[in-house]
Amino acid sequence: VSSLFTGISELVQPKLRAGADRAPLEVTRDAALLVRDGLVIAVGTRDAVETRREAAGAERHDLGGRAVVPGFVDAHTHVVFAGERIDEMARRARGETYEEIARAGGGIARSAALLAAASVDRLVDESLPRVRAMMARGTTTLEIKSGYGLVPAEEQKHLAAIGALAKRVPATVVSTVLAHGVPKDQRDQRRAYVQSFCDDVLPVGAQLGARFCDVFVEEGAFTPNEARTITARARGLGLAVRLHVDQLREGGGGALAAELGATSADHLEYTSAEGRAALARAGTIATVLPGCRFFLGKGPWPDARALRDSGCEVAVATDCNPGSAMVLDLALCATLAATQCGLSLEEALWGVTAGGALALALTDRGHLTSGERADFVVVDHADWRALLYRPGAAPIHRVVIGGAWSG
Ligand code: NIG
Ligand code: FE
Repeated sequence: VSSLFTGISELVQPKLRAGADRAPLEVTRDAALLVRDGLVIAVGTRDAVETRREAAGAERHDLGGRAVVPGFVDAHTHVVFAGERIDEMARRARGETYEEIARAGGGIARSAALLAAASVDRLVDESLPRVRAMMARGTTTLEIKSGYGLVPAEEQKHLAAIGALAKRVPATVVSTVLAHGVPKDQRDQRRAYVQSFCDDVLPVGAQLGARFCDVFVEEGAFTPNEARTITARARGLGLAVRLHVDQLREGGGGALAAELGATSADHLEYTSAEGRAALARAGTIATVLPGCRFFLGKGPWPDARALRDSGCEVAVATDCNPGSAMVLDLALCATLAATQCGLSLEEALWGVTAGGALALALTDRGHLTSGERADFVVVDHADWRALLYRPGAAPIHRVVIGGAWSG
């Protein structure tokens, strides 16, 4: 049951924390990796690993001079959804904005209507090919949010579909209950809606295995006060907190995330210097989603450089969703984080590995050290940076999840 992977041109080891380091990775040349029962048991130079006692009977795999990086951790996705919104993309290309389309009945409400018409099985069947495409592109752990249910029974269905999908893939799924918005017909009863989200949705989420509660804090979604109410209840149920903040305007998201002790604050396109400082002080991971600006074509890129320079740890995720970022490719997002958001290639890779793991509070992945999960990407190149050098066509030879070839 042991496997010895040799012929690794360079093995990339992200540091646990990036700190102020512009190159927060360690690279071992001519490396080997020893795996048993889905876990890494030894890693280092080939000589050091091959002479280990446990390497003796191991099945050998020669990777032919290719680079190895940890499996990608996508810490922000809405990849379980029903139907598509291709026409909204067409409308934006003709000049309408994301918010105009949402106000006219598109957007989240549209996906909620499509979800309401779908069964759990259909949701899983529609979403599985997307998750498989993510895995083929190197993602080995992903977060998936509910939030297209809006009302309790539909949120329960959404969460059930996320759980059912998780059982069908080798990748690890972390599920999050998302308060995404108040349905149109309940807008004059916001308090009652928030109360029912707390009473009827959050407990079901916790019961169905969700680890996090997320709130979309934005004009047209939830206010900071509503987020305080929802996350206080979530905490009582054992859920940790993450937030969508400052996506469409500066809304004090950094300070709010810090106040609520959020594990991660996500989007941050408009976050001010004060907001960045608050995140850094609180140790909240700043998760940037460059696929959003890439897909919507408008608004600022998240300023990952300024976040890092303010002292934040910065993760990079896809935000895969049918409206604002129909993006499955986390390596592409890492490229955008470097070319558009100011990160070095090393910081960008850190953001999709160790950073993603930190943003999900997972300590057993995002790096390849002894005792951690054997989730890794075999790059079809001797230089790991080739992963970011070919956006949309990252050279990936194989993806290994829990020590086994995937796909
Ligand atoms: O992260 N910001 C809120 N939610 C999603 C978009 C949802 C949608 O348009 O369907 C996001 O961008
Ligand atoms: Fe999102």
